[in-house]
Amino acid sequence: MIQPTASRPSAPFPQDSPLIRVEHLTRAITTRAQRTIILDDVTFTIPAQRLFAINGPSGSGKSTLLNMLTGIDRPSSGRVIFGAEELNERSENALARWRGEHVGIIFQFFQLVPTLTAMENVLLALELGKGGGLPHRAWRERAQLCLETAGLSAFSQRLPSELSGGQQQRVAIARALANDPPVLVADEPTGNLDSRTAHGVFETLASLTEVGKTVIYVTHDPTLAARAQARLDLLDGRIVGQHGANALMASSPEVRS
Ligand SMILES: Nc1ncnc2c1ncn2[C@@H]1O[C@H](COP(=O)(O)OP(=O)(O)O)[C@@H](O)[C@H]1O
Ligand SMILES: [Mg+2]
Repeated sequence: MIQPTASRPSAPFPQDSPLIRVEHLTRAITTRAQRTIILDDVTFTIPAQRLFAINGPSGSGKSTLLNMLTGIDRPSSGRVIFGAEELNERSENALARWRGEHVGIIFQFFQLVPTLTAMENVLLALELGKGGGLPHRAWRERAQLCLETAGLSAFSQRLPSELSGGQQQRVAIARALANDPPVLVADEPTGNLDSRTAHGVFETLASLTEVGKTVIYVTHDPTLAARAQARLDLLDGRIVGQHGANALMASSPEVRS
């Protein structure tokens, strides 16, 4: 069940407008002995408010790419343009601030604070993100709404150790929603869950496009990859397939005009 979480409208990024543009992105690691290319001249676009998969076998460069989309890692060459802004022109501090406002991150191993309840984990994200502009008195209600959106309204007072893996990942989804970012990114979000639990958590993540989120996930599972509305296939740091994004963006009123 999905409820509107909007306090900050996604209006600057209407559905199917080109939200993130990646241009000729290359990431190389140089050691004294050699230079290894992890991503090689990658160019693609992610449409707003859609479910987007980065797919490929282990070692193909998926996590490296995701980290550059959020400015956690920097390219060796090429550009990541989010809306109208080029990420790599920003300082580390400015990037961290930008990330807090624009991106919610969901990890494979949940990464909740073990000594805090589900509610407190979400409240902590609000504190770190200054509530996404919400006044302090509205934070608890906001956190409860995020937990409900993530499908976990009943267990807000439990510690992570008192929750199943699937429930912990739902807390992590709620935490990612806390400051109402336009984009959610998830690196193998169901990779640590049994298949039935994984299905439910994935459906919740996918449904967030209905409340205006752009959801970008990394997977090596072809079945999960096929669920995306648009997809990038990587192999050995190169794009070997692109599906859906161009068709979606071509049908966007903003792109046509
Ligand atoms: N900091 C690093 N130093 C050296 N090699 C790295 C580093 N980060 C990633 N790699 C290598 O780059 C390749 C892609 O890694 P990664 O992006 O984690 O792939 P994936 O997420 O698809 O499994 C792998 O071969 C990995 O070993
Ligand atoms: Mg990875």
